[in-house]
Amino acid sequence: MKRIAILTSGGDAPGMNACIRAAVRAARAQDIDIFGIRRGYAGLIQGEMEPLDRKAVANIIHQGGTILGTARSSEFTTPGGRTQAVKNLEKEGIEGLILIGGDGTFRGGCDLSQECNAGIIGVPGTIDNDIYGTDYTIGFDSAVNCALHAIDRIRDTALSHERLFFVEVMGRHTGFIALESGMAGGAEELLIPELPFGVDELCSHLERSFQGQKRSAIVVVAESGKPGDSFRIAREVRERTGFDSRVCILGHLQRGGSPTARDRVLAGKLGVAAVGALVEGKSGCMVGEVNWRAACTPLRDTWNRKKDLNAELVEMRELLCE
Ligand code: F6P
Repeated sequence: MKRIAILTSGGDAPGMNACIRAAVRAARAQDIDIFGIRRGYAGLIQGEMEPLDRKAVANIIHQGGTILGTARSSEFTTPGGRTQAVKNLEKEGIEGLILIGGDGTFRGGCDLSQECNAGIIGVPGTIDNDIYGTDYTIGFDSAVNCALHAIDRIRDTALSHERLFFVEVMGRHTGFIALESGMAGGAEELLIPELPFGVDELCSHLERSFQGQKRSAIVVVAESGKPGDSFRIAREVRERTGFDSRVCILGHLQRGGSPTARDRVLAGKLGVAAVGALVEGKSGCMVGEVNWRAACTPLRDTWNRKKDLNAELVEMRELLCE
């Protein structure tokens, strides 16, 4: 293998730069030329590629976002868009392509792997952690810590004013961020799509809490496909209980900022593993981390198979969040 390329696609995640850096270092150490594709699949269709050397990835390990830029490309979901992408890969003699992103990125990568001769390797990079085949995705730990710092700050003001707060965190259809940040932040309740709840149940829980020792409470809500829905929940709770509350939506704050040590190490490990997988001739799979070891999973399984919340954490939630 003499020439490979790398792109970032979908929502950015802290640690993507650390992964690009690792892949460039691993490739150059084996005399493989590596190109950076700008703006994800959109840039691949336009042929926006530039060579990357060690200098190009110097001093980026601590930076959030992605130096390559990213996009969600609807054109790449069409056969015409992908044909153009394949032409550009062939024109540049690219023999292997590394895709850092989430499920949308891998769906595109799976189609591409059937339509071109280059090896295609995915690396899980999304704050949502909703990818089967890896215990953690790059960016998740940073997002959880960002949410946790926010919850800690909200607790200060919630205590001072003896208030109920709803803190809404990201996670398109899953509650991974809500579960870990909420547990770490000592939230009084977690509203997570995987664990269905009723507003009546929530109201009874909060009433019991306030009848006891509690003078303030924090409910962590996973956005789960409806960003801003916390306002509705807060309104319904007020109508039923009379509790006045405040809502804090963390949104894209969780996507930016310097990656945590855990995300940088994971990104480094998976960037190196992705280059290794291409050199070994693998294609159509994702390199993830399972029980601390790099492991390959077919791209199709990464979104077809459901990744469950950690059952032990879910069980403990009853005890630790109330
Ligand atoms: O997939 C990552 C994520 O941040 C989700 O948690 C969120 O629902 C979505 O992306 C937001 O996407 P966008 O940046 O396109 O608004």
